[in-house]
Amino acid sequence: MATYERALITGASSGLALWFAKRGTTVYAAARRADQLESLKALAPEKIIPFVLDVADADAAHDAVKQLDETCGGLDLVVANAGVGDEMKAEQLEWKRVRKVLDVNVMGATATLVGALPGMVKRKKGHLVGISSLAAFLALPRFGAYNASKTYLTAWLENLRLDVEQHGVNVTAIHPGFVKSEMTAKNTFSMPFLLETDDAAALMGRAIEGKRSFFSYPWPTAFVVWLATSLPRPLQRFIARRAT
Ligand SMILES: NC(=O)c1ccc[n+]([C@@H]2O[C@H](COP(=O)([O-])OP(=O)(O)OC[C@H]3O[C@@H](n4cnc5c(N)ncnc54)[C@H](OP(=O)(O)O)[C@@H]3O)[C@@H](O)[C@H]2O)c1
Repeated sequence: MATYERALITGASSGLALWFAKRGTTVYAAARRADQLESLKALAPEKIIPFVLDVADADAAHDAVKQLDETCGGLDLVVANAGVGDEMKAEQLEWKRVRKVLDVNVMGATATLVGALPGMVKRKKGHLVGISSLAAFLALPRFGAYNASKTYLTAWLENLRLDVEQHGVNVTAIHPGFVKSEMTAKNTFSMPFLLETDDAAALMGRAIEGKRSFFSYPWPTAFVVWLATSLPRPLQRFIARRAT
């Protein structure tokens, strides 16, 4: 029997939707591009249900998730995975671009998870997952909005857990290093320990099934980040400027 009966996974292109579908979970696979979702459905037609959703409209996303939870028989897993990155030099910092990152990564992720929360608390069962990033722990040039959006997500999940675990709801914060995806395909810098999409999905899937509260991967990148954040802040800034 599948660990989860019904899951909603946003940003469904990451491989995680297929990983859970192959293990018997009915997956509501959410993203904006309907054609991509149809291609995903073709890989597991019985188990993947396309769910067109723009999480940047946080109010609408919240209501759509709440309604889905109320009408589908109850979601027992929700993964806020949709995220956008935008590399901006100081002269490119524009409110519209910064806002888009915050709309999707902060407001969208929060709205997605909050939408499912009342139903889970009522049923005393459920699992909320946020895909943050190892970047949440670092200050790096050009990625301020992205990194800070992930710092928020990690911090919020850590706080949320304290409120909802006593109601039978699990919370997991996941921190990937570099993984092959549309997002990283745009990167022009070197990406150490870059993982294949399917390998990353399997690592995240197993961490979720294992009800890990906090999961960072791959371990070499997580170790380097941990080491860097243990240094005095002036030294961290010096290394961040040099390394990038
Ligand atoms: N890849 C990495 O190295 C890496 C590392 C650390 C953390 N992460 C995090 O992992 C998550 C997935 O990243 P990824 O690398 O797979 O990114 P990606 O290749 O750019 O995919 C992003 C996914 O999110 C969806 N999406 C984007 N904007 C959306 C919106 N407004 N509403 C709904 N869906 C939206 C996209 O589909 P549509 O465009 O069709 O909507 C797509 O399915 C993100 O939260 C990212 O920050 C990734």
